[in-house]
Amino acid sequence: MSASLNRLVDEMLANAFSACGLPTETARATRSTLPELADLQCNGAMPLAKSLKRNPRELAAEVAEKLKDQPAFKEVSVAGPGFLNLRLSDEFLSECAAAQAASPDLGIVQLPADTVVLDYGGPNVAKPLHVGHLRALVIGESLRRINAAQGLNTVSDIHLGDWGLQMGQLISEIRLRWPELGPGETPDLTMDDLQRLYPEAAAACKADPARMELARAATAALQAGDPDATAIWQKLRDISLTAQRLDIDLLDTHFDLFLGESDVQPLIPGMIADMRAKGVAVESDGALIVDVATPGDNKPMPPLLLQKKDGAALYATTDLATIVARVRDQDPKRIVYVVDQRQELHFRQVFKAAERGDLAPGVELIHAGFGTVNGADGKPYKTRDGGVALLKDLIGEAIEKAGERLVNDDLTLDRIELAKLVGVAALKFADLSSYRISGYIYDADRMVSFEGKTGPYVQYACVRIGSILANAEAKGYQAGALQVTAPAERALVLECARLPEVVASAGRNNAPNEVADYVFSVAQAFSRFYTDCPVLAADTEAERASRLALCGLARAVLAKGLWLLGIAVPERM
Ligand code: ARG
Repeated sequence: MSASLNRLVDEMLANAFSACGLPTETARATRSTLPELADLQCNGAMPLAKSLKRNPRELAAEVAEKLKDQPAFKEVSVAGPGFLNLRLSDEFLSECAAAQAASPDLGIVQLPADTVVLDYGGPNVAKPLHVGHLRALVIGESLRRINAAQGLNTVSDIHLGDWGLQMGQLISEIRLRWPELGPGETPDLTMDDLQRLYPEAAAACKADPARMELARAATAALQAGDPDATAIWQKLRDISLTAQRLDIDLLDTHFDLFLGESDVQPLIPGMIADMRAKGVAVESDGALIVDVATPGDNKPMPPLLLQKKDGAALYATTDLATIVARVRDQDPKRIVYVVDQRQELHFRQVFKAAERGDLAPGVELIHAGFGTVNGADGKPYKTRDGGVALLKDLIGEAIEKAGERLVNDDLTLDRIELAKLVGVAALKFADLSSYRISGYIYDADRMVSFEGKTGPYVQYACVRIGSILANAEAKGYQAGALQVTAPAERALVLECARLPEVVASAGRNNAPNEVADYVFSVAQAFSRFYTDCPVLAADTEAERASRLALCGLARAVLAKGLWLLGIAVPERM
């Protein structure tokens, strides 16, 4: 038996529809809106009745007739204007739960192993990660896992901002401050130094055209491969990435590639020549532009600036060259950019230019944008003194607050580890549980709470099931055949059965919030089950064995769901 309950029911519905001579497109079951009356419902008769000019209740009744004697259903009835209400049988639910528990992927449908490139993070050299990077890292990592869980071949790339005038500004600043440096030498700098130097250099360049000229010259030297400029650049890049990786690792975020804007610069001249030859890149006032407007655009689409008058490439040029490199090196089916929604126009222009230039034939380009992390005032989150909140401080705060909830006594080492797991879970879950395009209000106290829709609540549910199972094992009790009967058992099985469709939908929509909503409802269904149905103290041995098996399934589903969100589950809490 295939593992997915919902798929099996859809198949039975489709067979019943066609046995009635009806088309099967609308033969789909959804969760019942009235769980006291039914487990699932099918609304498919109503649109059909309309197009066939028939009575919807009559149509539904014909379909019900075909279904009602099948062993999967306890009760099939017609309600309201023509809903089909489906009550599943205990046997069918039990079999489906057992099949799901036995499936290595818990029934998650495996797709062809196409490659998906995920671009997230995008930190710039010389700048520490800040609140703006939180969502890119957390959503990007979750999407990587949601794709991987469906058998897709994922390639995650951090896409460092390591090129352009900013680098020239810093290189020239270093030369001015350390005039005694010999060829190829770089002063010993820390990330804190860079963090101070960079804004000062940028401000000096802005204030003084002669200073800006130095920055331009340094940029040009770097771009021409000058060894001294390159040595300083390399050092700056290493210092930054080493510091940034501390936050990246704390967030348990994985990158397959640490490539950057610099890596694709050699591809730019050829790409531009190609786009010119195709007539896609055209001259305008000495610059090169790509017309990306399409008749019927519902938003303004200014042309994409490919090359400035002075020959300099731009942010969009680099993104186009990165598409060329990814197509060449990864042969992806899809490239997903997890980048601030405020860059929406940029990506629309880049994708359209890639299409006009035929740079990525057959590759789906998606901007999975996200809204801002906001303060209590609803405006982008700032520190108390109005500064940019650093990512390491946000992670630190989450860990600290989680630690306060966990212990009153002194922190032993593994308590610190635990605070880390819980704090990071809290931070991630709070971020992932709102739809990515909407911003959300950052509230450190709320997110670490063990009550309500939070990471620690779901984590705790998973840990609690683990300890029930451990207790059972200590007593020598074993899980056995699943035989669900109680309403709370049935509800938990139905909830677990939704995992495959939730993962498929979250993948299609690039929407980790669907997984976050889901794990929360599984945790709630478990808690109702645990209140209503004694496990270790069950009435009979068979009942206990069945409930232990159900605990095992719920734990596996929760652990998988949390993994998809990038959240690890501690052994105890
Ligand atoms: N470094 C860019 C910034 O700070 C973000 C990069 C996003 N990714 C991309 N492929 N454009 O705005």
